Amino acid sequence: MTGRLRAHLAAELERTRARTALLTDAVDDADLVRQHSPLMSPLVWDLAHVGNQEELWLVRDVGGREPVRRDIDELYDAFKHPRRDRPQLPLLSPAEARGYVRTVRDKVLDLLDGVPFSGRRLTADGFAFGMIVQHEQQHDETMLATHQLRLGPAVLHALPPPRATVGVSGEVLIPAGPFTMGTSTEPWALDNERPAHAVDVPAFFIDAGCVTNGEYAAFIADGGYDQPRWWSEAGWRHRVEAGLVAPMHWRRDGDGWAYTRFGRTEPVDPGEPVVHVCFHEAQAYAAWAGKRLPTEAEWEKAARYDPATGRTRRYPWGDGSPLPHHANLGQRHLAPAPAGAYPLGASPAGVYQLIGDVWEWTASDFTGYPGFAAFPYREYSQVFFGPRYKVLRGGSFGTDATACRGTFRNWDFPIRRQIFAGFRCARDATPAEPG
Ligand SMILES: [Fe+2]
Repeated sequence: MTGRLRAHLAAELERTRARTALLTDAVDDADLVRQHSPLMSPLVWDLAHVGNQEELWLVRDVGGREPVRRDIDELYDAFKHPRRDRPQLPLLSPAEARGYVRTVRDKVLDLLDGVPFSGRRLTADGFAFGMIVQHEQQHDETMLATHQLRLGPAVLHALPPPRATVGVSGEVLIPAGPFTMGTSTEPWALDNERPAHAVDVPAFFIDAGCVTNGEYAAFIADGGYDQPRWWSEAGWRHRVEAGLVAPMHWRRDGDGWAYTRFGRTEPVDPGEPVVHVCFHEAQAYAAWAGKRLPTEAEWEKAARYDPATGRTRRYPWGDGSPLPHHANLGQRHLAPAPAGAYPLGASPAGVYQLIGDVWEWTASDFTGYPGFAAFPYREYSQVFFGPRYKVLRGGSFGTDATACRGTFRNWDFPIRRQIFAGFRCARDATPAEPG
């Protein structure tokens, strides 16, 4: 059993490193040290930071070994240096960073052979290794977002996502009642996904698919960006200050729109989910459409609750981990797929593509569940709790399956657009009686 777990952990670490290498080898050294946007780190910072976290947790803590480079801990501490300041730091060069992450990885693969997977919560079920795999995959998605922001010709290549094979439209009723939210049993779930707890959710409707580019373009054409009534007060202020007129990366193209994605400019596909919109834009669209964003509990109930059995599933399609026919994950494609492209990934209630394609903004602030306990450190989640951050769910085409459970919670500022985020709408099933 532990032999299989060791082999699995080694394979996941190496599969993840291959993705990191693909993202960092795709550009030259000058590009690696350049800051492509003040919102992002230079790619070479992400690379060495991934290795530094692996050193801190696996080499030093789990393995109890001597530090490889204690002198660089401070440089790669995400809490010490905001992204905009990172290019000015005396960072490792691309060659040094590659050598460093290799040295750390060699030590980790060596110590993995002797690690006991019991006796310590940090290593139970390989958690610490799973946490480091997820951390690197999360930075890979961040690096993919940096690639989307860099100028110049395309350097990443992938097949287009599958086309729709079933029609998806309208909304689905999710009946009122309690369901189990979060998890106490997923071995690699992070602290903010825990513990499992019952939540009573009133009946609601949720869109069967995400809002598409075509639907979003109708909101723009109807003057959605010119009318404060669709926007929250904070949203309108941001719309004006930031000069928002359309999703990030969209440009006028004759009567329609074009977007540039990973160095390629093409007409906006009306059937694809809209992506690169902030929370405020999502909220304004929903108001214009006579709806609202789903709460986090509504999203998770739509994704995981099986009304036939009353059970909460791990994923919309069941308890099996994501396979390529379930969802558009893992950077296999460089774009979200149209609704109806993954019929085998639908939830029991008939909600499509909750996992993969685009992160989905929810109406909820990022908070701890009842009974939350920080693990293994407060800075993982707890310091972000509060009204400043909104929760996103479901993962994007750039999210790896290891970092995308039915319970997985992402969070970001409501003004952020560089992430691969879209949304779907919801509404109450029983409108409130006039008071
Ligand atoms: Fe990090």
